[in-house]
Amino acid sequence: MRKRVIFISGASGEVGHELIKRLSADGDNHLLTFDLHPLPDDIRQLVDRHVVGDLLNQNTLTRLVSEYEIDVIYHLAALLSTRAEFTPEMAHRVNVEGSMTLLRLASEQSQWRKRPVQFIFPSSIAIYGMPDLESKRIYQRVREFEWNQPRTMYGCNKLYCEMLGNYYSRHYRQLAAEKPVTVDFRGVRFPGLVSAATLPSGGTSDYGPEMIHAAAKGEPYAAFVREDARIPFMAMPDAVSSLLQLAAARQENLSRLVYNVTSFSLSAGQFRDRVLAAFPDARITFEPDPPRQAIIDSWPADLDDSAARMDWDWEPEYDVDRAFDDYLAPQIKKRYQRET
Ligand code: SER
Repeated sequence: MRKRVIFISGASGEVGHELIKRLSADGDNHLLTFDLHPLPDDIRQLVDRHVVGDLLNQNTLTRLVSEYEIDVIYHLAALLSTRAEFTPEMAHRVNVEGSMTLLRLASEQSQWRKRPVQFIFPSSIAIYGMPDLESKRIYQRVREFEWNQPRTMYGCNKLYCEMLGNYYSRHYRQLAAEKPVTVDFRGVRFPGLVSAATLPSGGTSDYGPEMIHAAAKGEPYAAFVREDARIPFMAMPDAVSSLLQLAAARQENLSRLVYNVTSFSLSAGQFRDRVLAAFPDARITFEPDPPRQAIIDSWPADLDDSAARMDWDWEPEYDVDRAFDDYLAPQIKKRYQRET
């Protein structure tokens, strides 16, 4: 018999770090994790097995399927928006072909065992594209079906993977005489995520987390956006809660397959003020980098997450005050005190 597991791709990244902690708190969960990199020491002992490998290598995955019955997939592996702009074709391979590989695996396994494999997919605010600042000012909180015109390769990749998820879930082999058992695909569109434990790499919303981590380390920081640049953010524990809650939601309550989730919307200047309140000696300046600024300008000022609230009772635990006062400031302080 194969061992039943939850499979996490991109497990060594920021979201993986928190997700592994939360999932492993339930002793019944067995975690099989996958990444190009080893897991950080503090979470390695929380998983049953970690495989260092490339998602695009079919052989590795095929071997894993012969050993494990994959019940749920959290597909976290991706090249974020800034990094993807430097190597767009490579980003397409990682973000789209990597997702296809896992969707195909999930699809085959769903049919094989006659029970859907659940596929949880973090998408992004990057799938939106506001054409200009005036539109961004007028249409503040966008709903899922609005402004789906991404400016970045990463945004295109995420939007297309959402569509593939929808296809594999609802329309796969639609002309076959017998309807196959299909994948149970569900996704959330994240705003900028801020973690106390880790720093993101290669994203465009990184100026937020970079500001607060630099302040805690006593280092000066020049943000690459204008002071008035505004996007929504969310604390990492809430991001992971949203993935877990969506996974646990009853299918009949879901009116869509991909949902906006968010917590608070701040301009970069307001973000700086929050950081200064926690770290009064912080030295933060603004030196906008026009191309990266343009990406942030194309992302909406806020997300409308009322569908998630309605369908599966989504509600962030950390609003802006709690995010900074109860989570980010104390935990980041502790983290760097430990290191010094
Ligand atoms: N935080 C991501 C990025 O900046 C957006 O999903 O690329």
